[in-house]
Amino acid sequence: MADKSPPPGSPNRLPSRTSILVAAARAFGSRDPDAGVRNPDFLADTLIGPDELALINDHPLSTGLAQDYAEASQNPAIAILVSLMIFRTRFIDEALKRAVESGAAQIVILGAGFDSRAYRFRDLLQHCRVMEVDAEPTQDYKKRRIQAVLGEVLPNLTYVSLDFAKDGIRDALKAGGFREGERSFYIWEGVSMYLPEKSVRKMLQMVASHSAPGSSIVLDYANSLGIEIIKQNSQGSMTMPASWGEPWIFGVPGSNGDEFFQGLGFDPVVPLSMNNPEVFKRYAIRSDGTTYAAHVVEKMRIEALARARAGTALPLSAGVLEAQKAIAIAGGIYWLAELTVSASPNDGQSQRMTD
Ligand SMILES: C[S@@+](CC[C@H](N)C(=O)[O-])C[C@H]1O[C@@H](n2cnc3c(N)ncnc32)[C@H](O)[C@@H]1O
Repeated sequence: MADKSPPPGSPNRLPSRTSILVAAARAFGSRDPDAGVRNPDFLADTLIGPDELALINDHPLSTGLAQDYAEASQNPAIAILVSLMIFRTRFIDEALKRAVESGAAQIVILGAGFDSRAYRFRDLLQHCRVMEVDAEPTQDYKKRRIQAVLGEVLPNLTYVSLDFAKDGIRDALKAGGFREGERSFYIWEGVSMYLPEKSVRKMLQMVASHSAPGSSIVLDYANSLGIEIIKQNSQGSMTMPASWGEPWIFGVPGSNGDEFFQGLGFDPVVPLSMNNPEVFKRYAIRSDGTTYAAHVVEKMRIEALARARAGTALPLSAGVLEAQKAIAIAGGIYWLAELTVSASPNDGQSQRMTD
């Protein structure tokens, strides 16, 4: 019998709260007066209004967006999430531009949430077929919101609703107009960590097996170490209220996932760790040379020092020290990568499937 339970993140058919949270973080980041660290998603602030913020009222960003920008930026839970979104948005925007300039004809935004790229890049994408794929409750909500605030239907944008954990993505995409022979660019932003491993493998195998040569997929993901650490740390910036029903559950094996992706049919890749100082240099340097959220990190350091001086600091548990060592060895827990579909058969071929 078919399983009728709602997809993850959609209890009671509400839109995914994490999709609202990350769009709210982009909206916040888009207000920075310094263009060097501003989030380029200028539409997020229009898409996320009071009704959407009410759905995430158990996160400080819900009220943070109504506060003074500089004041709200002092909250580490806001500043750290907003900086992660700056990296993500910019890395993916750059990859999208490169893909279209090199001939991608189809853009597939998987788990689109409140992704605004179809509208933000409407000129760049005018000759591309754009497909947004998401769970039905989130997609229905997003479509209504787009209609209410932008009021325009783009002729080249198609919506496909499905549950990655249950439905066949290949058939659904084809029914939505996807052409396997055309070079494609897939965006899978902020989604892989919410899915069972089987669904992640299935999606990546589908992309690797049924996309034209030169196609690629850009994604962010955790490694299994990161998932373990997040499970143990209920206060982290990537920890969502349990009531949202959207826990991070999947992390790639190994440190950065390169072998895992090659095994699924992609070319070797050098993923970018969000811990890598290069990420800050590339995406988050202010015009005065400081990095975004540096003030928050410095504030936390000073507070820790003061606690140590006053003798009130709690000793770091063996578990925390061990986790810090493991993160340093792995090079990070949260990554960004653009995976190119391998043109030459490799070991991954034996793992490929037809969805
Ligand atoms: C954190 S949000 C990211 C949204 C968007 N990509 C972004 O970065 O702004 C996670 C998205 O994944 C989607 N998602 C999670 N599990 C899913 C599933 N099983 N099937 C379809 N979509 C799913 C949610 O509906 C939501 O839109």
